[in-house]
Amino acid sequence: MLLNLNCKYLEKFISFKEYFKIKTKIEQAHNLLHFKNSRLKEYLGWVSLPKNYNKTEFNEILNTAKKIQSDSEVLVVIGIGGSYIGTRAAIEFLKSNFYNNLPKNTPNIYFVGNSISASSLCDVLKLCNNKKISLNVISKSGTTTEPMIAFKIFKEFMEKSYGRKETASRIYCTTGAENSVLKTIATENGYKIFNIPKDIGGRFSVLTAAGLLPISVSGANISKIMKGALFAYNDSLSIKSSENQCYKYAAIRNILYKKSKNIEITAFFEPRFSFLGKWIEQLFGESEGKDLKGIFPTSMIFSTELHSMGQFIQDGSRNIFETILFIDNVGNDIKIENSKNMSSFDFLSGKTMNWVNKKAFEGTVAAHEDGNVPVVILQCENASEETLGYIFYFFEKACAISSLIMGVNPFNQPGVENYKKNMFTLLGKPGYENYKKI
Ligand code: PA5
Repeated sequence: MLLNLNCKYLEKFISFKEYFKIKTKIEQAHNLLHFKNSRLKEYLGWVSLPKNYNKTEFNEILNTAKKIQSDSEVLVVIGIGGSYIGTRAAIEFLKSNFYNNLPKNTPNIYFVGNSISASSLCDVLKLCNNKKISLNVISKSGTTTEPMIAFKIFKEFMEKSYGRKETASRIYCTTGAENSVLKTIATENGYKIFNIPKDIGGRFSVLTAAGLLPISVSGANISKIMKGALFAYNDSLSIKSSENQCYKYAAIRNILYKKSKNIEITAFFEPRFSFLGKWIEQLFGESEGKDLKGIFPTSMIFSTELHSMGQFIQDGSRNIFETILFIDNVGNDIKIENSKNMSSFDFLSGKTMNWVNKKAFEGTVAAHEDGNVPVVILQCENASEETLGYIFYFFEKACAISSLIMGVNPFNQPGVENYKKNMFTLLGKPGYENYKKI
């Protein structure tokens, strides 16, 4: 198993009986995800994706990534929410949060269209000046305001330096819906199109072309990511939570929620995993937070945030629980040598930073257990592509099961529409004149 769930620190919060009591709900949730005629079937493309993904398109992704690597110094990735966060999480997790600044033979990757900030877009335009660029615009609906503004601006920027024909050969559109405006634009202009399957929602789409193309451009091995996801798929097929740690994690979340633990901190001990935390926040936030229900998801990097939020976690309101995702072997390490005039730190001499980080992890678990914070531990051996694929699938499935146990539909996001409608009224978008919630 590429990931291990350790429940040792939950014993004083959850009894065996409680796991038993939630069993039927887990089975019902499992059936909703796996039954052929499930009422949710229009959303379930992601469930068997690691087994059934389109191999022809996958090879096309690999070929296109190679082309972009060979003809571009920069890949600009345009997208927001589910069309952005997972991709960035993967690149930082597998490469570095300093990916763009480190020496490498793959293009820099800049993410835009994930806000409406002109100042941020201007900075990226400056970074792209006189560079050979390619553009991957990702929007399942093909209508989202933030990415479409950025797309319009970058398209013009590129046409100025390359002309329309070469620009067309450097723009890649990843989109879904048949009636997507983006698809129409792509077809009219001759841009290459990749597909986000109709039955896979944005926040469940990182293992489709939406994530795989830019991830592959970074040099990461996407075949291994899919292999890891397949391991997670197979490991989470059993209907029994005693044999299925993904379902057990979903059960734990719901049992704790019933005990008023309505904030979950997902914590990591590596800064380059911070966007994975953002991905988990979005996945659970948009899936579970509805109908006045849901566990508020947040994520933190330790030990960094132990020096800012540690006090609250240890001693503040007792409505939080923690899920620590600890990876034993994260790659590079540094030995701490003896240095003159720093004798008070001699106890660290000869130790490695990764070893010290592990002690920080163990110390944190002990402290938070003392502070009556339920701590779930998810532990992986290494930060490989397989592990990441496993993590992506594990959390997607745990999130779906957890939301269904809670009694909400994990796959819609009606709440997101409200801000959009108000904004469109204020912007004078035709069709929104009478939206009167402002
Ligand atoms: O998870 C979701 O469905 C959302 O976060 C979407 O991914 C996000 O709103 C972007 O949508 P689109 O890809 O249609 O531009």
